Amino acid sequence: MTDLTLLCGHVLTYAANPFAVPWSEAVRVDSAGGVLLCGDRIAEVGNADAMRRANPTAKVVEYGDKLIMPGFVDAHVHYPQTGIIASWGKRLIDWLNTYTFPEEMRFGDPDYARDVAGRYLDLTLACGTTTVCSYATIHPASVDAIFNAAADRGQRIVAGKTCMDRNAPDGLRDTPQSAHDDSADLIARWHGKGRAVYAITPRFSPTSTPEQLEALGALWAANPDCLMQTHLSEQVDEIEWVKGLFPTARDYLDTYEAFGLLGARGVYGHAIHLETREIDRLCEVGAALVHCPTSNTFIGSGLFDLAGVVAREIPVGLATDTGGGSSFSMLRTMAAAYEIAQLRGQAVHASQLLWLATAGSARSLHLQDKVGSLAGGLEADICVLDLGSTPAIAQRSTRANDIWEAIFPTIMMGDDRAIADVWVAGVRRD
Ligand code: GUN
Ligand code: ZN
Repeated sequence: MTDLTLLCGHVLTYAANPFAVPWSEAVRVDSAGGVLLCGDRIAEVGNADAMRRANPTAKVVEYGDKLIMPGFVDAHVHYPQTGIIASWGKRLIDWLNTYTFPEEMRFGDPDYARDVAGRYLDLTLACGTTTVCSYATIHPASVDAIFNAAADRGQRIVAGKTCMDRNAPDGLRDTPQSAHDDSADLIARWHGKGRAVYAITPRFSPTSTPEQLEALGALWAANPDCLMQTHLSEQVDEIEWVKGLFPTARDYLDTYEAFGLLGARGVYGHAIHLETREIDRLCEVGAALVHCPTSNTFIGSGLFDLAGVVAREIPVGLATDTGGGSSFSMLRTMAAAYEIAQLRGQAVHASQLLWLATAGSARSLHLQDKVGSLAGGLEADICVLDLGSTPAIAQRSTRANDIWEAIFPTIMMGDDRAIADVWVAGVRRD
């Protein structure tokens, strides 16, 4: 019989989307909760004492006042940008040309790609992130590197080869045909293997010719269960550039739509400066947006309209956007999402922030029946938060009147010291 493990502590569960119904009905913290693990799955979530009695052979791990929650799901990252995180002083296009493209060039060396991929996953696991959706570089070996590193760690992962055939330097361009063929080969080798999911990945309209977008649209049509990830309307200058490059397009989203790159399994990063038609179309097709708040402030992109987007019931994930984002931590990312919403006059509750960083992100990646929540049958990816991890946080949380007031300081002020434990597919990380 498979070994049983019972985790006891404060347990965070979701009954519904806290943006769709009042958060107090959607999200619950059970102070006497238990999560029963059976192999790589969650068997059951409930009352710890009752589960202890029903499962006398289970190994018990006591977490006391700590918060047992789903592992974080980071819905948009560029693992190859690990080494250039926190690079100074540029806005999007200059930042890409100055820092990003020279670094991505180095991933032509498979050893370098392997080294960074492993380092990136270890850094993010230390922050409680158990699933990421990552761009690689144009080099197929960089895709192998991140899928292999995730498999070595037992992690669920979404990734894809970044495709670019113009407006990128020599050595960092593919072609419509090679982008199609390399991506098709990677799909055959990785999609659905173990915990891997493939995302077809045109970087963004400025770095793909219409011919390349068309080739990737055809690839998606031939592999409809893959995700498709790209960038959309991040900076005002970028949008002007797109309009110049695609003079007949109705708007930025149309540069994807025209080539078969708009669909329910499409995941569009940033999406800050959307026009009405774009919002309507995203809504109609059920595509997902990904909010990248530390990136949006760091690169100076703008203030994402979270309330406006959730009011239209567009699925939204949350992401670091490493290395445009300035942190590997989804705690820091939730704090930035809170601050950006405040600047728009919107107050996002702690329960909504946690949901976005877990179940919301999982939903944006169509993984909600696998990860992002604590419920029987889901994969056992778990993060345990210490709600008093530094003196500054502890002195605030001890004054809390309820559990949400105790959690919020860790969201706003916490870092990797707040991560007490991480479980990946039922295995505790050292
Ligand atoms: N737009 C196109 N490529 C990128 C990237 O690597 N990072 C960000 N933030 N935006 C992009
Ligand atoms: Zn990005």
